[in-house]
This record gives sequence, C-alpha cells and structure tokens, in this order.
Amino acid sequence: MKLTSEEQDMLDGKYGKSAKKSMEILATLGEIFDAECMVDVVGVQIAGVSYANLGEAGLEFLSEMAEDGKVRVLTTLNPAGMDRENWQALGIDKEFAKNQNRAIDAFAKMGIITTCSCTPYLIGNTPHFGQHLAWAESSAVCYANSVIGARTNREGGPSALASAIIGKTPKYGYHLDENRHGEVLVKVNAQVKGTDEFGVLGKIIGDKLVELGKKTPYITGISRATVEELKSFCASVATYGGTALFHMEGITPEYNKYPKPSDIIFEINQDNLDKTRLELIDDDINIDFVSIGCPHASIHEIGKIANLLKGKKVKKEFWITTARPTKRIADEAGYSKIIEDAGAKFAADTCCVVAPIKGRFKGIMVDSAKACYYGRSKNKFKVKIGSIEECIEEATG
Ligand code: F3S
Repeated sequence: MKLTSEEQDMLDGKYGKSAKKSMEILATLGEIFDAECMVDVVGVQIAGVSYANLGEAGLEFLSEMAEDGKVRVLTTLNPAGMDRENWQALGIDKEFAKNQNRAIDAFAKMGIITTCSCTPYLIGNTPHFGQHLAWAESSAVCYANSVIGARTNREGGPSALASAIIGKTPKYGYHLDENRHGEVLVKVNAQVKGTDEFGVLGKIIGDKLVELGKKTPYITGISRATVEELKSFCASVATYGGTALFHMEGITPEYNKYPKPSDIIFEINQDNLDKTRLELIDDDINIDFVSIGCPHASIHEIGKIANLLKGKKVKKEFWITTARPTKRIADEAGYSKIIEDAGAKFAADTCCVVAPIKGRFKGIMVDSAKACYYGRSKNKFKVKIGSIEECIEEATG
C-alpha cells in the first residue's frame, strides 16, 4: 500500500505512540486486503463498547491508546452495557457500572463523543452520499452504505479506533465502485409494512444469501419504506446474511448506478413472510420482558409509543432503548413523562442485547428480528416478534 509522507511519519512514530499503533493496524489491514492507498474518512463509529465485550484486556488497550491518542474526525460509540444515568433502575450491578465508566472515560480522553448508539446517522454522526467512513456496527454500516450511499467497510473495534486517530482507512471493499454492485435479484411480491415485517424480510433475504454464498441483494417490489423500517431491515439482513450493502429499486440512492443482476433470482411472497415470522416466535413462551428500540428507537417511534401508552400501565418490564440525544428530545416533547408514568423505562446508551441481563428474564417480546437472534443466542431468552402495537398490548394487557 502506498503511504503519503505524513502516513509514513505516523508509522515511524513521529506523531506519537497511539498514531504509530493506529497506522500499524491500518497498514496491516491495507496489506491483507490489497488496498492501494488510504482514503480520508469524515466519521467513525466504534463498536465493542460494552465492558462485557471489552473485559480487562480491551480496557488495557484503550487506556494505552488514550495515553497520547486524540481523534481527528467526528467519532461516536456503539451502545454500552448500561444506561449511563439510569443504570441502577435497570438492575445493573455497581461493579459493572464502575468498569463500564472506566471504558467510556478512556474513549472521552481521546476526544470521542461518548454518545453510545447504533443509529449514529439519527443523532448527528450523519454522512451524505459518497462520503467515506469507518463504522463498526453492522446495522449502521448497512444503513450507511445502502440507504445513504456513503461508503464503509464493517470495521472491528481496534480498526475503527485507529481510523478515528488517523482520520483515514485503507481503500478497499465497499470504498470501491467495483464491490458495490448487486449480486442477487430479489423480487418481493408482497406488501411489507412495519419494523417487524421489514425485519422478517431481512431474515428471509439474509438466510438465502448465506445459502447462496452471496452478500449484496438487489431488491425489487418495495414501493415505500420509512427510515424506521429500513433501519430494522438493515439490522436484520446484516445479522442473518452478513450483508453490508443492498440496493432497493426506487428507494436507495445507488439502485440504478450498477447493472441489475439477472443470473441469480429469487422471489418472496406473503407465505414466505408468514412462515418466517413463525420462526421468530418460540413455543411456550412466557413473556416477562418487552423491549422496543433495536436498532435504537427514533424520536418518531418514541412519539408513537407515547401515544399508545397514554393513560395505561405496563405490567411487565418494558424498555425503550435509544440514543441519549433522542431521549432528550423525547423529554422536551413530553413523550418521556407519558412513557415513564405508564411504568415503562428508558434504557439510553444501551440495549437489550449488550446489557448484561442474561438469565434475568425468560421470554422477550420485540419488534426486531435482530433482537430475536441475539435474545436467543446471547441471552438465552425465548423470543417473540410483533409490531410495536402488539408489543405494547403485551406489556399492558
Ligand atoms: Fe443496536 Fe443493540 Fe440492536 S446495538 S442494532 S439495539 S442489538
């Protein structure tokens, strides 16, 4: 990989220890993936923020980087293991909270904005078409590449941090036109509506892509989709199919930039949607936990939840997971008071997957196919998918 003289100086340690370590990480990645050069990034999003993922080894790496490391571009964090203000009410233990804060403090020391969200695009870490990024959260990577038309590979925690410190990433993968074309034509012959149904669609397409050994679908037949439906779809197709980019005819900005694939085609009808939905509902589930906001809830979703909860009381543990800036807007709009008066809880900065809640609940109801996947695999809950309305009915009924 060709390095500029400044990049070479960083690699030689002339810009300090953290810049040297960061350049080593990026140069190694560049060599592995045959990148010709580096490209400037306008924003970074770092994952692996929960202390449950980092552990002491991760924390040690962060502390070393924070000794002289400062980020050069706008950088935010993925959800942490707890709500930084409300962790006690959510049943997080003191020792975990102390360690989680040590990690966040190390990020803050490097100049990282310690907003912990998987929807950075909703809260100001918002790229526009064609800009290069180094983002790590799989659902956000898929949203940035597909819905916005920005360009990012799915970074690991250390490579995202390295990009934040250098302000660049090796130019390979989704940064290049040649890797952004659709590979499989997916024809949807059904009306898809709601975050839950878009999540189900993501699972069908993701599962099929794995079977075919392909990554990038070109989807037709969707006539409209909201931001919330697309964020749910991104989370699901990334979880089940490892997809970082899709094109959706008439919806996403690059759908007519590359040729429509014609050799591999598969179709989805209402039957497929109904059958796959049933795969996301466990038998004999006893629901004691309802959570909405995977990916993090938008202000629009929180407004809808407030409307549905007005004057009611929840009878089960009910979390709304969101970014703290979105929660602040909800406070100002009066939504938070309605929601909290109903007995539901905000879990800002975190989510039902990264919070250390394994074993605390038996059955979770969500509107997210991604949360179903991790609810089962990571937290060992039984799961049930439903619309936001059905989730609220379950919590209040
Ligand atoms: Fe976000 Fe947690 Fe879901 S990080 S995408 S809310 S699993």
